[in-house]
Amino acid sequence: MKEADIRRKYIEFFKSKGHQEIKSAPVIPENDPTCLFTTAGMHPLVPYLQGAKHPAGRRLTDFQKCIRTGDIDEVGDAVHLTFFEMLGNWSLGDYFKKEAIGFSFEFLTGKENLNIPVDMLAVTVFAGDEDCPFDAEAFEIWKSHGIPEARIAKLGKKDNWWGPAGVTGPCGPDTEMFYWTGPLPAPEVFDPADKRWVEIWNDVFMQYNKTADGTFEPLAQKNVDTGMGLERVTAILQGKTSCYETEIFAPIFAKLDEIRKVEPVEGARSSSERIIADHLRAATFILADGITPGKVDQPYVLRRLIRRAIREGRKLGIEGHFTSQIAEAVIGEFGDVYPELREKAAVIKEELDREEKQFAITLEKGTHEFQKLIDRVPPHITKKVISGKNAFNLYETYGFPIELTVEMAREKGFEVDRAGYDAAFARHQELSRAGAEQKFKGGLADSSEETARLH
Ligand code: ALA
Repeated sequence: MKEADIRRKYIEFFKSKGHQEIKSAPVIPENDPTCLFTTAGMHPLVPYLQGAKHPAGRRLTDFQKCIRTGDIDEVGDAVHLTFFEMLGNWSLGDYFKKEAIGFSFEFLTGKENLNIPVDMLAVTVFAGDEDCPFDAEAFEIWKSHGIPEARIAKLGKKDNWWGPAGVTGPCGPDTEMFYWTGPLPAPEVFDPADKRWVEIWNDVFMQYNKTADGTFEPLAQKNVDTGMGLERVTAILQGKTSCYETEIFAPIFAKLDEIRKVEPVEGARSSSERIIADHLRAATFILADGITPGKVDQPYVLRRLIRRAIREGRKLGIEGHFTSQIAEAVIGEFGDVYPELREKAAVIKEELDREEKQFAITLEKGTHEFQKLIDRVPPHITKKVISGKNAFNLYETYGFPIELTVEMAREKGFEVDRAGYDAAFARHQELSRAGAEQKFKGGLADSSEETARLH
């Protein structure tokens, strides 16, 4: 089953169960200042989970574009993605555990749906603690669908509690569904520590609100929030160990082969190829939602993604500009599903070209400067460190994101004094702020536009 089939089947299934399809929200959260990016399908729905009335009703379904940067340094291996799509269905104070688990079971195992044999599935439920009791109800519901007790694990908050997406907000116990990817038959007893059981779906029973002081207060309404990672489930159902080996990434890799003027690569892709594909796919979606590269927050993450991709491109021997060509492949592939990509195509390519041009100049100079720092350290020194001040200089003068310096240093057996860098960065911000205040005092920045710019 292709990604597009799974996406469509999911939405059709939930529509047939009385859900309204809603459009994916932007990757920049509108309601949560504690998060830079939309990290889950529930994220744009927070006000509705907290009781506001949703114009589309109480049963909703969608595919939501998400960005998770927590594991960004792991990208390059077989499984990590920065951008991904999450399939979801919600009950806003409507159905609860019985129906939610029933729908999940039917979608996973139904012949017209994913058609997964029951004996390839296992589940976890919340074991209970001082905040919330054992989820006996979920346990019994799974049993009623024919999941044997030995395939139902009871786990604590670390595994079976979801949310809030940011620091505060809706959260609750969850039940997760796992698929066996090892040799057949699947073991009778489910061992959640066995990595061959791969999580494919999560049903969260959102009945608490986490407050700023860390307490869990009951929500006015009981909700269901579910999330299924589309790329992961596509790979698993195709018997692939990596999302990068599915058709999802094929057009992006084909474009990369074309840029490099190499024969189409068979089989697994290198870490550099995966980083380029992942980072530029994410960057294309972030640009489409109106962010441009810059020095803080989302613009900084965007810059970091683009610059890391460019550097990986250099490792593969790509000398010329290439990022906007990769973006074109992304737009070509996802433009039907996410029309904003086509609408913003010109801006996306322009911004990538601009950033690439700027970085190409600084990359050369900065790499030269970086090499000088490395060469300055005599070979007999065992603890090789780049000082915080020098790392900050690479950032400030040459536009090297600190993570890039850390990565390049690691490749040379060096560490970076990260605390020293942070201190230099903070000092610089303090000075800039003081400088801006001086300007206001001197009446240099009296238009509100200029004031906003300086802020
Ligand atoms: N919000 C839940 C998750 O992201 C469904 O796993």
